[in-house]
Amino acid sequence: MERAKQQIETLRRQLHDHNYNYYVLSQPAISDIEFDRLMRELTELEAQYPEYFDPNSPSVRVGSDINKSFTQVTHRYPMLSLQNTYSEGEVAEFYNRVKKGLNEDFVIVCELKYDGTSISLIYEEGRLTRAVTRGDGKKGDDVTDNVRTIHNIPLVLKGSDLPPYLELRGEILLPWSSFDALNRERAEQEEPLFANPRNAASGTLKMQDSRVVASRKLESYIYSMLGDALPAGSHYENMTLAREWGLNVSGAMKRCRTPEEIFDYLNYWDRERKSLPVTTDGVVLKVDSLSQQRNLGSTSKFPRWSIAYKFNAEKAVTRLESVTYQVGRTGAVTPVANLAPVLLSGTTVKRASLYNEDAINALDLHIGDSVYVEKGGEIIPKITGVEKEARFLLGDKVTFARKCPDCGTPLVRIGDEAAHYCPNSEGCPTQIKGRVEHFVTRKAMNITMGPETISLLWDKGLIRNAADLYTLQFDDLLRLERWAETSALNLLESIEQSKSVPYERVLYALGIRFVGEMVAQKLSHAFPTINLLAQASHEQLIAVEEIGDRIARSVIDFFSNAGFVDFVDRLRHNGLQFSLSEDVLAAKTDKLKGLTIVISGTFELHSRDAYKAMIIQNGGKNSGSVSKKSDYILAGENMGPAKLEKAAKLGVKLIDETAFLEMLR
Ligand code: IVH
Repeated sequence: MERAKQQIETLRRQLHDHNYNYYVLSQPAISDIEFDRLMRELTELEAQYPEYFDPNSPSVRVGSDINKSFTQVTHRYPMLSLQNTYSEGEVAEFYNRVKKGLNEDFVIVCELKYDGTSISLIYEEGRLTRAVTRGDGKKGDDVTDNVRTIHNIPLVLKGSDLPPYLELRGEILLPWSSFDALNRERAEQEEPLFANPRNAASGTLKMQDSRVVASRKLESYIYSMLGDALPAGSHYENMTLAREWGLNVSGAMKRCRTPEEIFDYLNYWDRERKSLPVTTDGVVLKVDSLSQQRNLGSTSKFPRWSIAYKFNAEKAVTRLESVTYQVGRTGAVTPVANLAPVLLSGTTVKRASLYNEDAINALDLHIGDSVYVEKGGEIIPKITGVEKEARFLLGDKVTFARKCPDCGTPLVRIGDEAAHYCPNSEGCPTQIKGRVEHFVTRKAMNITMGPETISLLWDKGLIRNAADLYTLQFDDLLRLERWAETSALNLLESIEQSKSVPYERVLYALGIRFVGEMVAQKLSHAFPTINLLAQASHEQLIAVEEIGDRIARSVIDFFSNAGFVDFVDRLRHNGLQFSLSEDVLAAKTDKLKGLTIVISGTFELHSRDAYKAMIIQNGGKNSGSVSKKSDYILAGENMGPAKLEKAAKLGVKLIDETAFLEMLR
């Protein structure tokens, strides 16, 4: 018993150290496989001896699915904000105010202003006990469970002589790479996009399911330390110590002694910030000495010993000509601002996303307004403000569409989602055509036809949904303008061939909201026939790995809609595959259980998609990007150099086609 306890503690210590080496120092000391082995050993022991449970164990980072609303916590020290300045002149004024106020030598620490969402981390006896959002500055939300999943936040601080109570404050951010990947995934699922990494980070931090938070790869940057007995009398020194304890403190922090040194720092980082992995929107200046900070004190809103200098965003002014709405295949309605063309960071901008009703209302937009457009590195330019003084003739106020721009059905907002939907899923032409377009894509039914053909068939009344493709007649097609025998035959042949597309892909083709390619594969393996899936309960659905509440509800909604059930029935009668093939069922194994495999490059023996299917069929997980969690890379020809480099750095093992197939034998 005692031995088990010791062993658990040793493993926890080792894993904390390895996490630190990996996430903070970027210098892993052991391979991923070795790390996973230690982690498995720990989780097994923890399962055997639940009496030694510790919420700060490195094994807890994977998150839990307990649903909770957040508890409000009062900050021991209020979370103030900073006065913003925009010019070197204002920075010089701040410097002179400090000089006059102190009347002695002082040092200004310059650091980057990270543009995320702020967090207060409470460490008692070196252990993370609580994480609270800024809230209104006095009280915030307790988001401890979610914060525990962030890898560069240590659950236990390294080092001895730690003050018994400490608050470390910092910013939680979503790096650009994760933000882009997240938005790509959301675009594919027709979910509203996040406007910028900041919104994505704060939205993620407030999610109910910490497993999802864990999957989003948030990062922290720590910029201040508070407590009754701090180790040093200087901010810079305390931050240096915090870094030694394992917290992620930016290396860009610099002590400056003259205004010139400060300006050099501002100019240097205004250029260099563009190559950082996360968003920064300025520089924060702080008086270094804590006793001098106390002497200067605070106003009711801001400290007198610190200011923020904001970088200029790349901005342009142009006219708002109209607002139009796009309807996607899931019915999600996105507002788009049509602008008088304007040049912005080298490209002509004609359109900007308006995101949703709340975003439109917050801007108080009128048609004809002069609007500011910004490209903060985001994919889509956005409108950040309106020049109200320039309104000479007030155009119509922009109010969010009440009706679907295509079918006229009143729009609805579901629950607390910001997006609007057209609920007429069975009658709205744009949605239906969108679903047919999705149905025929290569990764779904692989029928060779483009959006124009779909539109034409719709206009001629030949299709009302994708099931009608299977009853199309040769003569019907021949009657179409500019259609010759060959094109008609080719289309019919391609439709016929789609009848042998396997169940996994048919399930994806149905276009159930949130059921992408990977989810469809998971579901088809867990429920090998469509009847089993249609009858699955919420409980059975969420028991499947990576299927959460949102997907479960969407599947249940789909099968409770008589129209969709009828659609599926018609497809079935037309001979589509609605159960896993005997071969797939017979070949299902656990050989790759617990392994995450990334596929990269091109292959000779099987297609990429076939390898993807094999991984899932054998109980493994296929992932799109190389990370610490990857066990293997199935590497073909021409694997990208970035992936190769990352694999080498993380020590992920490369295997070729034959070695992979050997694993399955
Ligand atoms: S110090 C009393 N340092 O900017 C001083 N803040 O407008 C407290 N921020 O709420 C803040 N980087 O979320 C400080 N290096 C940095 C920062 C930083 C980003 C954020 C923080 C704060 C806001 C202040």
